[in-house]
Amino acid sequence: MTTAKSPFWQKVVDDAKDENGNQRPFFSMAPMEAVTDTIFRRVVAQAGGPDLYYTEFTNAASMVHPEAKFSVQGRLAVADGEKMPIAQIWGSKPEAIGGAAKLLPALGYQAVDINMGCPDGTVIKNDSGSDLIRHPDRAAALIAAAKESGLPVSVKTRLGFNQVDEYHDWLEMIFKQDVQVLTIHLRTRKEMSKVEAHFELIDDIVAMRDRISPQTLLQINGDVKDYEHGLALAKEHPGVDGIMIGRGVLNDPYAFEPGNQDHTLAESIALLKLQLDLFDEVNQTANKKNFEALKRYFKIYLRGFAHASQLRQMLMETHATDEVRALLKEHVGTLVAVD
Ligand SMILES: Cc1cc2nc3c(=O)[nH]c(=O)nc-3n(C[C@H](O)[C@H](O)[C@H](O)COP(=O)(O)O)c2cc1C
Repeated sequence: MTTAKSPFWQKVVDDAKDENGNQRPFFSMAPMEAVTDTIFRRVVAQAGGPDLYYTEFTNAASMVHPEAKFSVQGRLAVADGEKMPIAQIWGSKPEAIGGAAKLLPALGYQAVDINMGCPDGTVIKNDSGSDLIRHPDRAAALIAAAKESGLPVSVKTRLGFNQVDEYHDWLEMIFKQDVQVLTIHLRTRKEMSKVEAHFELIDDIVAMRDRISPQTLLQINGDVKDYEHGLALAKEHPGVDGIMIGRGVLNDPYAFEPGNQDHTLAESIALLKLQLDLFDEVNQTANKKNFEALKRYFKIYLRGFAHASQLRQMLMETHATDEVRALLKEHVGTLVAVD
């Protein structure tokens, strides 16, 4: 039995219109472990931001475990006033996935996404992530369990485990589960992120969706650089409903902004300072963050300026947000925009 689009996803589609009221694809920031927490989501929102956000993937078994649940609460933390992200969960047991999904509405979540694409060895050993591609019956049971929460359920996956052509059977099976959205990272588990995304398969996947489950939204992921790139891709491949961008945002925090606009050094530094402030804010809660993890972001904001690499090196030696602020104050004047 097929169901209509949920009000949540219908609104996402309805809200995705260009300035002339024409339908455009919706854009989302990809779920990224240790990246897309409440801090970074709010920084990206300040830089233009996508229509939709996802949390980092969260272990469903931990969420329903009386003791382990505290270890994952930081992943699901959402700040007041922040746009509610979609919760991405992973697991192998219907009881855990169903139980975790049922906890989400009380936390304010309106939609749940199941990870069926993670290539990480530990996740695969736990019969989860991309391992589900090899176990379609289990994948179907997880989708059914998540639906019991009453939340709209989506799936994010890859083309196959080892072979690209696995997508014929695998995606057909997913479409038959009547999920609200299928997000397809256009690579296999084996390809990791080492080969180019298979954009050449988009039209075939659109046709498959139209044939099996026309009400399911199709979101494309992999190697999309920014908003304009995503827009062009959707134009080239009618039927694509959404575009998900991951690493593009790590190259350019303004990746979701229409028009490839130029930004000043002062704007970039303001984003970095916002990230520092939000880091301090979150560290006053129970969900403490590791300062070292902040360092991966420095290059995002200090790219494209002469002398930036020296400043970045100094920032890499810091141990606290105030040290970073002091260095910025002292050295930002030495940076010059380069073409
Ligand atoms: C640092 C990092 C962490 C990631 N963590 C997750 C995750 O938690 N859940 C998930 O579904 N995909 C995860 N991914 C995969 C991305 O969501 C995305 O599918 C992939 O990066 C390809 O898209 P891109 O080329 O736009 O980056 C991660 C990717 C990166 C680079």
